[in-house]
Amino acid sequence: MNTVRVTPRTECPIESEHAASPDTHHRDGQMVAGAPTGPLQDSNSAKHATERQPVQGRDPATDFVVEVRDLSLWYGNVRALTNVSIGFPRNKVTALIGPSGCGKSTLLRTINRMNELIPGVRTEGQALLNGVDVYGRNVDPVEVRRRVGMVFQKPNPFPRSIRDNILYGAKINGYRGNYDELVERSLKQAALWNEVKENLKKSGIALSGGQQQRLCIARAVAISPEVLLMDEPASALDPISTVKIEDLMRDLVREYTIIIVTHNMQQAARVSDYTAFMLSDEETKGQLVEFGRTEELFTNPRDRRTEDYITGRFG
Ligand SMILES: Nc1ncnc2c1ncn2[C@@H]1O[C@H](COP(=O)(O)OP(=O)(O)O)[C@@H](O)[C@H]1O
Ligand SMILES: [Mg+2]
Repeated sequence: MNTVRVTPRTECPIESEHAASPDTHHRDGQMVAGAPTGPLQDSNSAKHATERQPVQGRDPATDFVVEVRDLSLWYGNVRALTNVSIGFPRNKVTALIGPSGCGKSTLLRTINRMNELIPGVRTEGQALLNGVDVYGRNVDPVEVRRRVGMVFQKPNPFPRSIRDNILYGAKINGYRGNYDELVERSLKQAALWNEVKENLKKSGIALSGGQQQRLCIARAVAISPEVLLMDEPASALDPISTVKIEDLMRDLVREYTIIIVTHNMQQAARVSDYTAFMLSDEETKGQLVEFGRTEELFTNPRDRRTEDYITGRFG
């Protein structure tokens, strides 16, 4: 069987259009970026939250930062996800793969409640962030998006200085630390510091595409999210910039949990620890077919449909 070559890796997740977008962020200064924060608050699910504490000892098979349970989603009358249940292990990269239109981006957006910004969307099921359902009655979606940052396919820095791009979300979140330190730390985390440190006043949109994407990653990490969602973050970039983003993901995952959508199976094999294969067919829209360790899924898939996909028989 032809399979995608998997680079073995040792044991080893970004912000958002959202997390820092001027029109969606209306924080009242309670949060302090860069500081440890308690669990997401939902007063209705306090009991539930204590039952779902992360497992001690950090067994990736059970220590999920995000756990989606029986999740279904409709755009109007059109179903896009069908009873998806999946756990995303802490401090790991999980790749979502599958043919175009199978629901990868939709699943990603359920985790930080971005779908609900689209009119007519209905969601059923749960998405737990460290045991607390982000759809809980008293959960603030803005707080969810602070904790679950997002990076998009097309880099979308604000038309402001590099420094302001980094500081924007932090200021909204009431960051009280040293701004210079936050800018430096965030840009270093995004492997951009050395390229821009002499000119932090330069406009974010004057950078190259690859630099812009790393700036968006720096902007994301500046507000200390728990999870970074990346929707095809390198597919608009040249090969060298792509390698930089991939290397960066392996660095970032030591601190964050990353969930990446990619249509590039080699990329999934290179960067991810776990892979989820999704499919949409006439009967079942947006289903999760198989989830497992990346190496296993690519070399020894359990489901025939996964095998067909990774060997290039469709998609
Ligand atoms: N904003 C939207 N309104 C209506 N339908 C949508 C919207 N976004 C996605 N869809 C539909 O939902 C399905 C899944 O789309 P998507 O999650 O974007 O798939 P993928 O990211 O795997 O390509 C597709 O049939 C797509 O046409
Ligand atoms: Mg997509």
